[in-house]
Amino acid sequence: MKRIAIFASGAGSNAAKIIEYFSTRNTIEVAVIVCNKPDAGVLKIAADHDIPTILIGKETFFRGDAYVAELKSLNIDFIVLAGFLWKIPQQLIAAYPNKMINIHPALLPKYGGKGMYGNKVHETVIANKEKESGITIHFVNEHFDEGEHIFQATCSIDETDDAATLAAKIHLLEHEHFPKVIESVVDEKN
Ligand code: GAR
Repeated sequence: MKRIAIFASGAGSNAAKIIEYFSTRNTIEVAVIVCNKPDAGVLKIAADHDIPTILIGKETFFRGDAYVAELKSLNIDFIVLAGFLWKIPQQLIAAYPNKMINIHPALLPKYGGKGMYGNKVHETVIANKEKESGITIHFVNEHFDEGEHIFQATCSIDETDDAATLAAKIHLLEHEHFPKVIESVVDEKN
């Protein structure tokens, strides 16, 4: 059984799907949810599933050991970023080489980088009159959204779409694919 940590700062719909998916499998266990916002919806999802949480602070994350000791003491094998918006410090990347992946709600390399997250991405994609968007799952390196791609899926954008309807399409793609991609990457890398 491999133990994964999900890092999330938002509503946590992806975290919920990942937890649900692995609850019926005996290969991967969601061992902890790591969050930087005390009022994030993902904390309630963790509580509902009896999954422990770590509420992290800027000081330890960016100027301390980035919670490496705590993650290692929990025997975490793999890290999944699911709507986590802080940049990952080098120390944490070095502790989990090729064992940390992120999901981004657009077709990278377009619409990525600092400040490009959540609805901002969808608003920009709509403003640019793109005909399609999608999701990118990639390894995490020291540059925002620039790690090696693992998986992409696309959806079309209609003239009637706005940022909210596009966000809904993207969430559907994420929920369908992310758990399966995690399963195959953890399997390959461990
Ligand atoms: C997801 O759409 C994810 O791709 C995005 O945040 C959302 C979180 O939703 N991540 C980024 O924008 C990272 N740059 P959720 O909290 O419902 O899973």
